[in-house]
Amino acid sequence: MKLLFLNCPNLNLLGQREPSVYGRTTLAEIEAKVRERAAKLGAEVDFRQSNLEGELVTWIQQAKGVFDVIVLNAAAYTHTSVALRDAISATGIPTIEIHLSNVHAREEFRHKSLIAPVTTGQIVGFGVHSYTLAVDAAVNVNLK
Ligand code: DQA
Repeated sequence: MKLLFLNCPNLNLLGQREPSVYGRTTLAEIEAKVRERAAKLGAEVDFRQSNLEGELVTWIQQAKGVFDVIVLNAAAYTHTSVALRDAISATGIPTIEIHLSNVHAREEFRHKSLIAPVTTGQIVGFGVHSYTLAVDAAVNVNLK
């Protein structure tokens, strides 16, 4: 089982960025937790971050035939990107949308996800655990 974790804009700043919302754990530390959980469950992980929408679209396109599941923290692009949504839809790879914060309890513009309708489901609001819960879901649930 091969999992592609994609982290979108500003997630490279985790640890220093709005710690009251996103916590103090860095993206590198989250990656380590994801790798540890995936190793326990026998899954392989590719873990990437980009601030560029086009690069993320290209990575999603290239995932076809390579990865079994995409775990996507689309960050701000969640609320704006038709391009990411179309890329997910086009690959047909089961995708889990994740967020550290509970986007539904925040500003109204964060309540709408353009990505959600083309994903299998969302894991939202569990901080860094959103990432490790996604590993469990990817491995243990028969995703469509
Ligand atoms: C986020 C929530 C988004 O609304 C925000 O733009 C982010 C992070 C989260 O993980 O809580 O950058 O995706």
